[in-house]
Amino acid sequence: MRKELSDACQKLKIPVGEPNQNLYNGSFTIEGGNFNCAGIVSTSIKSILQKLGIPGDLVRKAAIVSYEAEINVVSYAKKAVVNLMVVPGSVNIEVIDEGPGIPNIELAMQEGWSTADQRIREMGFGAGMGLCNIKNYSDEFHISSEIGKGTHLKMIIQTP
Ligand SMILES: Nc1ncnc2c1ncn2[C@@H]1O[C@H](COP(=O)(O)OP(=O)(O)O)[C@@H](O)[C@H]1O
Ligand SMILES: [Mg+2]
Repeated sequence: MRKELSDACQKLKIPVGEPNQNLYNGSFTIEGGNFNCAGIVSTSIKSILQKLGIPGDLVRKAAIVSYEAEINVVSYAKKAVVNLMVVPGSVNIEVIDEGPGIPNIELAMQEGWSTADQRIREMGFGAGMGLCNIKNYSDEFHISSEIGKGTHLKMIIQTP
């Protein structure tokens, strides 16, 4: 890349990639049970995407799916790694948790189905809409889970 262009972009804090290079590639961790910090990862993802110039409606979709996934990790799992990869054409968010896993994914995906306990419900979570919203707001959604090991979500949001 031409040096002047790269200098100018650094000043504007716009990450510039060579063709086919990643625009952003980074990881975050989520601690299960830590409701005080719940939402921090999805807020960071939202602000990274805004800085990258991703259109607002797509940033909102990414914020919704990452928030729901984050709340699920905090509510049900031990910990998770979140990988955010922004490439030309898509935002890719992967959430890999260590936790109990989901015994019946089909049931868990149903609107309103929840195993959230009283404590989680008192905090305003547990409406049973998280996974179905993640699916609805993603262009591509993959979920797999292993009992006693954890759950793996992959969400793709297409960008212009
Ligand atoms: N990461 C996860 N690990 C274990 N169980 C999960 C996880 N995410 C979701 N679940 C299970 O799937 C159910 C539905 O999740 P969701 O649609 O987000 O609704 P809610 O969190 O409001 O219960 C949860 O109640 C829980 O039983
Ligand atoms: Mg949920």
